[in-house]
Amino acid sequence: MKKVIFYDRTQFESFKTELNKDQNVISFSRLLSDSNDRIKKLSENDCIDLSCLIPFITSSGDKIIQFEQLFNGIDDSVLFICDKQFEDELRYSFRFVFDAFEYAHVEEQSKAAPSNLEPLSKPRKIVDLDEQELDAFFQSFDSKLYGHARFKTEFKQLIASFRVFNRIGEHKILSLFLMGDSGVGKTEVARSIHKALGGKTKLAKINFGNYSSHDALNSLIGSPRGYVGSENGELIKRVKDSDIGLILIDEFEKADTPVFNYFLDVLENGKITDSQGDEYDADGYIIVFTSNMTPEEYKQKISPELKSRLDYKGIFNLLTDDDKTKYMHYRVNQIIDAYRTKVDQNLPEDLHEQIVSQLNVSKYKNMRDLNKDIKDIFVRTVSVANE
Ligand SMILES: Nc1ncnc2c1ncn2[C@@H]1O[C@H](COP(=O)(O)OP(=O)(O)O)[C@@H](O)[C@H]1O
Ligand SMILES: [Mg+2]
Repeated sequence: MKKVIFYDRTQFESFKTELNKDQNVISFSRLLSDSNDRIKKLSENDCIDLSCLIPFITSSGDKIIQFEQLFNGIDDSVLFICDKQFEDELRYSFRFVFDAFEYAHVEEQSKAAPSNLEPLSKPRKIVDLDEQELDAFFQSFDSKLYGHARFKTEFKQLIASFRVFNRIGEHKILSLFLMGDSGVGKTEVARSIHKALGGKTKLAKINFGNYSSHDALNSLIGSPRGYVGSENGELIKRVKDSDIGLILIDEFEKADTPVFNYFLDVLENGKITDSQGDEYDADGYIIVFTSNMTPEEYKQKISPELKSRLDYKGIFNLLTDDDKTKYMHYRVNQIIDAYRTKVDQNLPEDLHEQIVSQLNVSKYKNMRDLNKDIKDIFVRTVSVANE
């Protein structure tokens, strides 16, 4: 008894993988090109794909008799498979050869994959907050990010509009493009949104500073199926691992044109796709792009299409001395509190005062430098106090 299993062409790869565990899958044409001996030696370990034969015999029906003879010489234990689209033709033409037919049952990997891409829990998004939660969000956000008053006002308006137009399907992703010098709080915007939305897992972050420029898109979305090292890209993985509907794209100036075009597509469709054909629905997400591009570079590098897709484009300036002072007090307090709880309760009462008096905020152009000096002075002051 000779048996044929019909498979669906979209599932061939998974079907073949399953078969290959026990059997050696070969195409019929390959069988013909091998020596005659080969046909006699076929056994239950072999599986022959007949798909290429059927179009051939429909165009040259006079060959059927030869193929019937050939099949008669093949051991009954050999398994045959065939693309389902040729089923009728095969059943009829070789009605005296095959007498059992089945259909492949394949774990639908290609269909199951996108659902694997869903995050473990539903991500928390700005568009899903109720009014009370939204107030709490802004309160928290404003307290975390120092200065940038104009941005904060515009951000509130943007969010209000986004929540309305997202609901009616007209605005899928809110995009912010923040430019400006290093250490002024661009990345901090995303960190603050993440915290203010109650993020517990890591912020979904891509830093183009970490990619080599020539294959940035491959690192981002993976290489196409079938390529050496093909795998999911970093973007979907990061987004999937986060519990918040927010993506940070850092150092965007280090990306290249294919990447810029890719993000244009994401903003238009509200979907993150990768080269494996997987899709992640990013509807209701905020994407923060940061870059230290100058306005001149922005004009040159970013296409008019992408520019017009960005909801907010703004330059972040250095904080005022007043805001730097507030930030300094906050950081010094934060460090002292943490040290008191975790290391040593007996710090001098006036430690805060001692540290702050050694700092002159007006000389700092980068908050990272201020932060570093706060740490250094803290260590020095504490070790002096302990002597
Ligand atoms: N406006 C700000 N509010 C709060 N923290 C800030 C602000 N600006 C800078 N910082 C702090 O300074 C450091 C550098 O800021 P960051 O946002 O990473 O800079 P960049 O503008 O280069 O992205 C971070 O530790 C951040 O917490
Ligand atoms: Mg940054």
